Amino acid sequence: MQAGDTMTDVEPRQGAPRKTEVPLTDTAVLSAKPLLHIEDVSLFYGPKQALFNIDLEVREHSVMSLIGPSGCGKSTLLRCINRMNDLIPNVRIQGSVKVGDDDIYDPAVDVINLRKRMGMVFQKSNPFPKSIYENVAYGLRIQGVKDRAVLDEAVERSLIASGLWDEVKDRLKESGLGLSGGQQQRLCIARAMAVRPEVLLMDEPCSALDPLATSRIEELIFELKRDYTIVIVTHNMQQAARVSDFTAFFWMGKLIETGLTEMLFTNPRVRMTEDYISGRFG
Ligand SMILES: Nc1ncnc2c1ncn2[C@@H]1O[C@H](COP(=O)(O)OP(=O)(O)O)[C@@H](O)[C@H]1O
Ligand SMILES: [Mg+2]
Repeated sequence: MQAGDTMTDVEPRQGAPRKTEVPLTDTAVLSAKPLLHIEDVSLFYGPKQALFNIDLEVREHSVMSLIGPSGCGKSTLLRCINRMNDLIPNVRIQGSVKVGDDDIYDPAVDVINLRKRMGMVFQKSNPFPKSIYENVAYGLRIQGVKDRAVLDEAVERSLIASGLWDEVKDRLKESGLGLSGGQQQRLCIARAMAVRPEVLLMDEPCSALDPLATSRIEELIFELKRDYTIVIVTHNMQQAARVSDFTAFFWMGKLIETGLTEMLFTNPRVRMTEDYISGRFG
């Protein structure tokens, strides 16, 4: 059997994810080249080691989910990718993280530029107390863009991509805080996309949302991987199974197993993975 096949069906997946438990892997991701290279990464918060020798690659235009019990280091690893851990005092990181050929911990790297390449979406949606339009235009304004046509184009493009355009196009001047929880989260996704990052990092983006809003975001993730490489932290295993091509399972700061999502969920190699995905702990 080839990686990417299932027992019964070798058709590549088309359109929206099917509502089966573990969707088929999109065959395109199997030939995609790696974009993120995490090599032998260990991270310490003061004396406490939170990540142990992590090796992980994320392919272009794929979705990688990071799963595992609370406290296992998922958010910590995600923050290594855009150097957000730099903002925490007494953090020490070893190993290397690269996007393409660029070593993101190279002392010469421009962190601001780097973060432009990485959009981040958090657990709790965090629109600014500004209009819908200004929320999306924010990153471009910071970059000094003033041309109205450029801003208009970016706002429309990003809101279309986040699936929010039809719902808000007539009230772009209204506050982003007036939107529903699910809409606010899609607004934050639009804000992240407006500056055209290469990578979208999402830390439990649906955990505060109801099932309907969650499924809209999941469908969106499926759409977005055409243009972005996505790493998503989730403690919802069904979500990992539905949205991701690859899954990495962590336990107490260690990467226990990683592989094609359908393989990891149907045929894990490591006993601990099997115990976790079958709900025996976590
Ligand atoms: N800012 C911090 N300072 C000290 N310890 C932290 C900090 N953030 C996380 N940790 C610790 O690092 C470990 C991994 O945390 P985290 O990455 O948040 O896990 P997860 O996202 O999988 O729940 C936990 O033991 C947590 O307590
Ligand atoms: Mg977390």
